[in-house]
Amino acid sequence: MTKPNTEFPDFGLTPEQRRHAVRGHYYEWPGMDGERGEIWCYSDRFSYRAGETVALHVSSTAPTFGMTITRDGGSETKVFEKSGIAARWQESPDQCSAEGCGWEASFEFRVENDWSSGAYRVTLTADGRDGKPIQCHHLFIVSPQPGRKPGRVLQVAATGTWLAYNTWGGSNHYQGITGPDRNQYSPIVSTQRPWCRGFVVLPKDAPRVPLEVAVPPKTVPRYPHMEWALATGHSKKYASSGWASYDSHFFRFAEQAGYGVDLVSQHDLHFLPEILDGYDCAVFVGHDEYWTWEMRDAVDNYVERGGHAARFAGNFMWQTRLEDEARRQVCYKYRSRAEDPAYLPGGDVTRATNSWEAPEIGRPGSATFGLNATRGVYTGWGGCAPRGVRGFPVYRPEHWAFAGTGIYYGDLLGADSHVYGYEVDGLDFEIRGGLPYPTATSGAPDGLQVLAVGMASQVEESADIPIEDQFLTDEDGRFTAETLFGEASDANLEKVKRGNGMIVNFPRGKGEVFHAGSCEWVAGLLRQDPMVERVTKNVLDRYLGKS
Ligand SMILES: [Fe+2]
Repeated sequence: MTKPNTEFPDFGLTPEQRRHAVRGHYYEWPGMDGERGEIWCYSDRFSYRAGETVALHVSSTAPTFGMTITRDGGSETKVFEKSGIAARWQESPDQCSAEGCGWEASFEFRVENDWSSGAYRVTLTADGRDGKPIQCHHLFIVSPQPGRKPGRVLQVAATGTWLAYNTWGGSNHYQGITGPDRNQYSPIVSTQRPWCRGFVVLPKDAPRVPLEVAVPPKTVPRYPHMEWALATGHSKKYASSGWASYDSHFFRFAEQAGYGVDLVSQHDLHFLPEILDGYDCAVFVGHDEYWTWEMRDAVDNYVERGGHAARFAGNFMWQTRLEDEARRQVCYKYRSRAEDPAYLPGGDVTRATNSWEAPEIGRPGSATFGLNATRGVYTGWGGCAPRGVRGFPVYRPEHWAFAGTGIYYGDLLGADSHVYGYEVDGLDFEIRGGLPYPTATSGAPDGLQVLAVGMASQVEESADIPIEDQFLTDEDGRFTAETLFGEASDANLEKVKRGNGMIVNFPRGKGEVFHAGSCEWVAGLLRQDPMVERVTKNVLDRYLGKS
């Protein structure tokens, strides 16, 4: 037997630096690399169709740069290359994360007709002031033309969550330089800024959030991904969101497995819901936390009419609103009831940028994808089940999704590849005769079957780890207690702190939903876990009418 690794990886940080990696606020900002110089860019939109023009906004300390564009799919295809493009340094407002950088467009190019739908990586390279190369990466999506696409999958990139976690400019929906003391997260984030370092491409050895360490007893939690981020100059949130950590793994797997996949942004879904109607199967993956009312309408109507939604994703948590032609995303989150104008007299409280399970919104997440974020949440990291199950405990192995996997009742699906974590979605449930059933008040849609359930936690709870060494603490649990029950009391915390993560399946109207509610499902595809690949293919094949 090989002994499991009980050592946290060492990225050469001091204890103080390790603490800063987790507790500190560090982010990308114009001028951060000092004398070396920098190059940054963003595009005017997240997605384009063939024939449309991409405006690239570049700020660079070098007078010229070179550019390549590569389609990042089952294989990498370079579609564009140009050198000697003129650039200049462009000033950014202090609150550019919320207001946008406001740079002038530096270079425009056309999306050619043979650039098939997918994700396109833009790499800009220039000379630093010290003569060494400086570089930045950007990503844009080529959306498909509308129309019927038999046999093809439509993947919807979690762009709302990318935007929420983007650390570039100093503020996102988590931490920030917003407010009088420059220490608050921003309820408004702009699309008009570069992606943070690690959202577009990552080295293969970049740690994922769930721990790959057999944590010894009474060990203060550590966070290898944030330590690695600080040690290597990547975004603090590189492992929480972005194409590189999440969406890309499904897209590449599906293309390599022979599926035809088209890609759109969530923003496309918001403005052009009919894009779904061309497809028999729509897929959502990864860390997929922020949605608008309109995006949910798009999915609900599509499934009602006979569409199939497959969600291999976790953390369906917050309602957002889009403003300024979608250049701004609004989410007040924890401060919603106090600050969101939706709560003012005359405001529409159903559009409050709060948890979907806030009773005043009246639209729990489970009404769309069968599971609720407030019943799920953390597992496999910090003080939330750091020694937890790693895979989904399977209760209904006879279900069609598990055909050909050889899995048994009580087995863990995807434990080797660690698909269960780091945020999961669940339902209140009970066990009868050894099988899980949603409770009558869980919010589960009619006919929902629970195929797998694992434990999760909303609170770091240990008698042996001091509170000052906790990162998550009970803050989220208290918020959920207040959101659901009106008061963040101990008694209400007790009702919400124990969560779970599920795989569920249910019919709706003429269509159907399959939902494996875990951010890390894509880790099973990245790590080529045969059982996870089989289940993924079973779902796609059934929904595409191939089986
Ligand atoms: Fe999240």
